[in-house]
Amino acid sequence: MPKKFIQDLIQDMSLEEKLGQMTQLSPMFLGAEESVNLTGPLNDLHARAQWMTLVGSTLNGFGAEKLMAMQDKNLAEHPHKIPLLFMADVVCGYKTVFPIALAMGCSFDPKVYETASSVAALEASASGIMLTFSPMSDLVRDPRWGRVMESPGEDPFLNAQMIAAAVRGFQGDDARATGKIASCVKHFAGYGAAEGGRDYNTVDVSMGMLRDFYLSAYKAAVDAGVMMVMTAFNTVERIPASANISLMRSLLRDEWGFKGVVISDFGAVDETITHGYSADGVEAAKNCINAGVDIEMMSAHYLNFAKTAIDDGRLDMGLIDEAVTRILELKDALGLFENPYKDASVAGEKELHRCPRHLEAARAAARKSMVLLENKNSTLPLKKSLKIGLAGPFTMDGTGGVSIYDGIVNKIPANMVVTAMTDPLGSMQDGIFDVPDCVEEAAKKLADCDVIIAAVGECLGDVGEAASKTSIRISQNQEKLIHRLKETGKPVVVVLFNGRPLEVTPFLQDCDALLEAWFLGSESGNAIADLLFGDYNPSGRLSMSFPHNVGQVPVYYNCYNTGRPNTGTSERYISRYLDCPNEALFPFGYGLSYSKFDYTDFRVEKLEGKIIASVTVTNSSEIAGIETVQLYISDVAAKVVRPVKELKGFTQLHLPPHASEIASFEITKDLLEFYDNHGKLVFEEGEFDIMVGRSSVDVNKARINVS
Ligand code: BGC
Repeated sequence: MPKKFIQDLIQDMSLEEKLGQMTQLSPMFLGAEESVNLTGPLNDLHARAQWMTLVGSTLNGFGAEKLMAMQDKNLAEHPHKIPLLFMADVVCGYKTVFPIALAMGCSFDPKVYETASSVAALEASASGIMLTFSPMSDLVRDPRWGRVMESPGEDPFLNAQMIAAAVRGFQGDDARATGKIASCVKHFAGYGAAEGGRDYNTVDVSMGMLRDFYLSAYKAAVDAGVMMVMTAFNTVERIPASANISLMRSLLRDEWGFKGVVISDFGAVDETITHGYSADGVEAAKNCINAGVDIEMMSAHYLNFAKTAIDDGRLDMGLIDEAVTRILELKDALGLFENPYKDASVAGEKELHRCPRHLEAARAAARKSMVLLENKNSTLPLKKSLKIGLAGPFTMDGTGGVSIYDGIVNKIPANMVVTAMTDPLGSMQDGIFDVPDCVEEAAKKLADCDVIIAAVGECLGDVGEAASKTSIRISQNQEKLIHRLKETGKPVVVVLFNGRPLEVTPFLQDCDALLEAWFLGSESGNAIADLLFGDYNPSGRLSMSFPHNVGQVPVYYNCYNTGRPNTGTSERYISRYLDCPNEALFPFGYGLSYSKFDYTDFRVEKLEGKIIASVTVTNSSEIAGIETVQLYISDVAAKVVRPVKELKGFTQLHLPPHASEIASFEITKDLLEFYDNHGKLVFEEGEFDIMVGRSSVDVNKARINVS
C-alpha cells in the first residue's frame, strides 16, 4: 500500500498534473535559462507552455545553485508543491573522472566500479543530482558499436557482478542518505546487439539468447535494488522495447519483481511511431503506458495524448495512477518531500569535486583497468634512468585527464623525455580521419632514445553514442608511425587509447610491448606511468575479446558449439574462416603481468558433499603481483544447447614473490543451471566440464558427473 500522503495526492491531482509527473524534459523547458526562446522547441514537442510548471523531472541539468533555484521556482508554482527530481547521465564519474566502464570491467574487481560509483554519487549529489542514468548494463560483442565503452563487456557473469557493484556504489543501503543517489539501469533490453554494430539499428535476438547472455546484468541490477530501469531504443521480438508489454511487465515486473520506476530512453516513446509500431501520438502514449513506462523522456505524447486515449476508452486511468504512485514513491524514497534539494550545496561542490581522495581513487581504478597485451623480452617495466622518446597524438592529449607526457615527467626529469608528432587526433565526426604525417621527423628526433613509447588510438569523440565505425583500425599515419619507430631499432612500447577493442594485427609485430590503456579519466597519465615504470604491476584482464580483424566480428568466447566446430583438422566442411582463426586474437580474460604465475595441482573433487575445483598458483618471479584465477563451466549435453564455456567465478590472488596460494571454487548447483525454452531456470543431471585457468583459452579441464 502506498503511504497515505501519496494516496491523498493521487486523489487530489488533476490528470494534467499526473501526466506532468510522467514527463521528463531538459531544464531549458522549465525556464532555467531565461534567455532561451522556447517557442520552437515547444512546438517541436507539440507541448504547451502552461504544462511546463507540471513537469516532474529534468535530465542533464547540473550545478547546486542552478538546480536549487529551479526547485524553488517549481515549489512556488506547482499546484501540489511536488518537488522536481533532477536526473542526469553521471557515467564513470562526475568531476573526478574514472575509467570507462569497459576498462573497469577489465579490472575484474567489482570493488573498482563500486568505488567509482560512490565517488560519482558524492560529487554529483553535491551538484544537486538525485538520480543517475547509470550503469549501462548492455552486454556487448561488436566493437563497431561506439557504446561498448559504456558496458563492462561481453560476459554475463562478470557484467552481473560489476553492475550490482555499481548500483551499490550509487545507492548504498539507502539512496536517501547524504551523498547517495538513485541508480537507473539501462537500456532494457538487448541494445548491445544492434545489427552490424550500427547504433539504434535493428536488434533481433531470440529469447534463449537474451536469457543466456543479455539479461543477466539487468537482472543483477534489479536484484541489487536498482530504483529505475530505462528502456532501450530497439525492438525486442519486433516490438519497440518502450511499448513491449512482455518485456516491461511480464519479465521485469512480474517475473523479476521490479517495483521501481521505468523511464523511456530519450525520445523513445515518440520513436515507437517511427519504428512503425504506434500509428500516432495517441497510440504511442497508450502503448507505452500500457507497457508500464512511467516516465516519457524528451517527448510529450503523454501530456498531449494520454487524455484522448483515456477518454475514448483505450487507456485505463488506473495505469496512470499506478505510474504516478511509483514516481511519487521514488521521490519519497529520496527524501524529497522533506528536503527537496537533497544534497545540493555550493560548499559541498567546492569540498568534494576532484578532492585529493577522489583523485587517488580514480588513479587506483585506472591502474587496475589497464591490460598488458604484449611484453616481448620483458620490455616493461622501464627503468627510470632511461631516455624516453614519446610520440603520437595522445602524447599531450590526456583525453580529459593527465596526459601520458605529464604522467611520465611526474616520475623522471623532463630533460629525459623527447617528444615528436604530437598533434592531437581530431574527430571523424568533424571529418578528421588522421593526424599529419610527421613520421620521418619523429624517427629522426627520437633516434637516440633508449626506448620509444607510441601513444596512439582513437579520438574520444569517436566513441560512445552514435559513434559506430566499420573500421576498427587506428589511422594510417599512426600505424605508419609505429612501423617507422620500430625501424629505428629501439624497443617500441605502444600505449593504446580507445573505447573499443581495436584491430591491432597490422602493427602487433612492431610492438615490443602493447599496453591497452582505454580512456582512464582524470588520472590517466599518472596511472599509465605507474605501470610503465613498474610502480604498479599490471593486473587487468580483457572484458571483451580483441578480433584479428573486423571481418571476424562478433567474436566472443562463450559461443555455442555448432554441429561442425573447428577442431583444427584440415577438413573443408567445418565452421571456420579460410583466412583467419575462429578465435579472438586476444581473448576474454587475457592479460599479462610482470610476474610469472604457474598453475599446478588442478583438481576437482568431492569434499564433505561439496564439489570443489582448486588449483595452486605460484608466483615464480621476483615481483609481487595480482593473478585473476577464472572458473569456466560447460554443460556437455542439455535439452537446449549450451555455450562452449561460461565464466562462473573468479578470484584475485595477491602473491608476493615466490609465494603460492590455492584458488578454490565451490561448484554449486546454481552454477550449473540454465534457462530452458519456456523461461524456466532448470538444473539437469549429467556431465559438466570444469575449467580453471588464467584466461578463457588457457585453462585446466576436468569432466565430472553431477546428479
Ligand atoms: C542515451 C541514454 C541517456 C539518455 C539521456 C540517450 O540518448 O541512450 O543512455 O541516458 O540519452 O541523456
